[in-house]
Amino acid sequence: MSKKHNKLEAKNLNAYYGDFHALKNINIAMEEKNVTAFIGPSGCGKSTFLRTLNRMNDYIEGFRVEGDILLDGRDIYAKDVRVDELRKEVGMVFQKPNPFPKSIYENVVYGLKIQGIKKKSVLEEAAEQSLRQAALWEEVKDKLDKSALALSGGQQQRLCIARALAISPSVLLMDEPASALDPISTAKIEELIYELKNDYTIVIVTHNMQQAGRVSDYTAFFYMGELVEYNKTKSMFTSPKNERTQNYITGRFG
Ligand SMILES: Nc1ncnc2c1ncn2[C@@H]1O[C@H](COP(=O)(O)OP(=O)(O)OP(=O)(O)O)[C@@H](O)[C@H]1O
Ligand SMILES: [Mg+2]
Repeated sequence: MSKKHNKLEAKNLNAYYGDFHALKNINIAMEEKNVTAFIGPSGCGKSTFLRTLNRMNDYIEGFRVEGDILLDGRDIYAKDVRVDELRKEVGMVFQKPNPFPKSIYENVVYGLKIQGIKKKSVLEEAAEQSLRQAALWEEVKDKLDKSALALSGGQQQRLCIARALAISPSVLLMDEPASALDPISTAKIEELIYELKNDYTIVIVTHNMQQAGRVSDYTAFFYMGELVEYNKTKSMFTSPKNERTQNYITGRFG
């Protein structure tokens, strides 16, 4: 089997909120069409790092990065990079489902409409395809014109995933996508992640060790802004090399 190429890489990445050094010399390469889980105690920098991968932190005053983030080998912080183009390539799903107060259909096609796509047949086809990919189609196909806010939390989160997929990204960033959901919805999201990695490179932040073990191919353990250990999930969970990793995954601190 040929080796997968590195979809995302951080090289000597440091990040600061003002004087606070939030990410300390992170070096990591994430392969395409794999799931990488970020784990570690609260405040260790998981979300900060995730957000540097599509420049979501750009909006935060006083935030700055040093070093490189490469997407398909190209530095996403280079001067000629257009952030809107980058975000088309690197989609994001947040902890709390955040559908717009619009219909289910309008939520899914939102990004496409912003891109100027108007043709109804194109939009409808994209909506169906994205909703199918997000394992939501069967539940909503007869009420696409109903408000997205009337869906359950788990359905809303799958809708947000469909919305992210509709603009055909190649990377999907997920920050604790199931932490606000019940066990059945969580299981659905996990199954979905497993399906989606055939086509997408996925990075997921989770506090749930079982979830990291179930869905990810690789796991990165962060501690106080440092990447302590990064390995195949199986190796990491059976034989962590670092004592702090071991303590964390066995639940001795958290
Ligand atoms: N907007 C901000 N301004 C200043 N400091 C911030 C900001 N966002 C995060 N930080 C700090 O950066 C560090 C890393 O925060 P981050 O949110 O990345 O952690 P996390 O690992 O995602 O934690 P959690 O598991 O609680 O979500 C923390 O010390 C946090 O206080
Ligand atoms: Mg976080």
